[in-house]
Amino acid sequence: MCGIVGVTGRAPALPLLIDGLRRLEYRGYDSAGVAVLIPASALPSPGAADPASGIHESAQPRYVLSRHRSVGPVSRLAALLPDTALLPDTVLLPDAAPAGHGTAGIAHTRWATHGAVTEANAHPHVDAAGRVAVVHNGVLEDAARLRRQLLAEGEALASDTDSELLAVLVARAQRAGSGPEDAVRAALAGLHGTWGVVFAFADHPDVLVCARMGAPMVVGLGRAPGGDPRHDRTLVASDPQALLPWTRRVVFLEDGDLALLRPEGAVFSRLDGARRRPQVRVLDTPLAQVELGAFDDHMDREIAEQPEVLARALAGRLAADGTVVLGGIDLPPRRMAALPEALLVGCGTSLHAARVGAALFARLADLPAHAAEASELALHPPRLHPDALVLALSQSGETFDTLQAVGELELRGHEVLGLVNTVGSSLARRCGAGVYLRAGPEVSVASTKAFSAQVVALTLLALKLGRSRGLPAARATALARALLDLPDALAATREACAAPVAGAAALLSTARAVAFTGRGLSAPVAAEGALKLLELAYLPAMAWPGGALKHGPLALLDARTPVVALVPDDETRAAALTGLAEVCTRGAPTVVLHAPGDADAAALATISLPVAAADPLVAPLLQVLPLQQLARGTALALGRDIDRPRNLAKSVTVA
Ligand code: AGP
Ligand code: GLU
Repeated sequence: MCGIVGVTGRAPALPLLIDGLRRLEYRGYDSAGVAVLIPASALPSPGAADPASGIHESAQPRYVLSRHRSVGPVSRLAALLPDTALLPDTVLLPDAAPAGHGTAGIAHTRWATHGAVTEANAHPHVDAAGRVAVVHNGVLEDAARLRRQLLAEGEALASDTDSELLAVLVARAQRAGSGPEDAVRAALAGLHGTWGVVFAFADHPDVLVCARMGAPMVVGLGRAPGGDPRHDRTLVASDPQALLPWTRRVVFLEDGDLALLRPEGAVFSRLDGARRRPQVRVLDTPLAQVELGAFDDHMDREIAEQPEVLARALAGRLAADGTVVLGGIDLPPRRMAALPEALLVGCGTSLHAARVGAALFARLADLPAHAAEASELALHPPRLHPDALVLALSQSGETFDTLQAVGELELRGHEVLGLVNTVGSSLARRCGAGVYLRAGPEVSVASTKAFSAQVVALTLLALKLGRSRGLPAARATALARALLDLPDALAATREACAAPVAGAAALLSTARAVAFTGRGLSAPVAAEGALKLLELAYLPAMAWPGGALKHGPLALLDARTPVVALVPDDETRAAALTGLAEVCTRGAPTVVLHAPGDADAAALATISLPVAAADPLVAPLLQVLPLQQLARGTALALGRDIDRPRNLAKSVTVA
């Protein structure tokens, strides 16, 4: 889940690399680093190589790797660097590059898996002689054995990471006579693990070599055919967002691919040496140069966007009579009517959306459905009916556990449909068919609008399935009306909750722990509320179905363990009120989400959060927003980093 950017061109690389890291920083932000090839003549004096300053030199170098790294955000790294203000498009040929501004380089923002968050463990890593630099996303499973072997053979290692070993292996292969591409091929051939990886070479200053196995990697073809060769550049990144300012012509690497990049273009091959014809795609995704505008953080902006996200997710897909059109899903009525069961797979917030979807399939389409944690399913795939409907949910489309689970399901002959937000992502390309969420790029680590878009897509699918499985037309029309009214109802709920959320956040910010509870369709929403609070405020937050509290969790409750209870006006309301009364008798403060005017619920609430009245089957889409606001408000009260919570990353592309 780290961020990787590389470029080789005719203009200074540094400004482009820093710009790219800033666009990918949400993917991981423990530390950051950059390595740029600079002419040895650019050194203050040829003998000025000083590993402490990140300058490595060996005999007779024409180019050296100038490396800068720092713990913390990209902004701290950028402050360390020589002038990066040089316009990225200042056209310079390699031998005319000004001192300190090489025309090729690689950069990385890290989410640590091996080795603490220190500068020494920050990428790029280099071999001891400083001739090969590497940035890596993924995990080398045999790192411990390999580390012992290399140390025993006299190699010097400067970090605790697995990634550094890659630079050492490639440098050894080069010393044995291999060129850049073959050296990378030789180094990777015997390894086990995952990699999205880019190498730079002091002895080949305009060449980069990249490879992919289980972690995203995309090449950007920046050469304008027939254009001015002085503007040639070829790029590589772990996410196309970093490429879009420079090119929209991209090639997504597949597992087992390699590519050798030069300013004028790239040559693609396989780990086994076979040549590979690249499939060039032209991306039309908007450049997610998302501006905060009037918002203090991206999460606040993405929460506020949800009404328009819902409108976009519904646009052209739902008619007033309940007719649903989902272009990416080809399910003829006969197949829908005969479906024996459904399985929905995801992680984190996507798993909570999957749980809502499973409940909707059961209620609207009388279809037995199960939501599964992807990491568990990958280990123990369930026995499914061969004709089961299988869906994989992922905002990023790059979650390692979800991709692994999809692979297991495909091995068993299932066709998996994707509900994905990121166009062109690994899961979107892997599944081939499914539904794009249309939520727009989601930058804040805590997922909000993607959850809402997933639930809308699942509601539409449940409605479509239901109409082929006995759902009456009148019920479909009523639900369609409720869905089409949702964006306004959601905006009203956001407005109505802003003030009481502040009080609730103050209450939670002094809590010892927080319990969330809901019944039926509200149970997965309660779980989502707990995850939001936990990942943003770093508070112990747990969720239970309402009826479960009296079977143990009540023991947790006292004046410092508030309970956040969802009490929608549906078939669970009476039981929910009974459970809430039991909570109150234990002295726990309560934050209750209920329909405006529900006096019984309000009587049991320390603080009420009014949720617009709506069809019970769309209630999750209204309940989740105040919970998002509550988690964010509590985190603010505790001084947390809203968009970059500690220890996390936006897209978990490792096991
Ligand atoms: C949610 O707020 C978290 N950021 C995390 O649980 C996330 O939902 C999970 O990692 C799945 O990500 P995906 O939807 O991109 O697959
Ligand atoms: N395993 C590598 C490390 O711990 C890469 C982590 C990442 O993907 O950011 O440094």
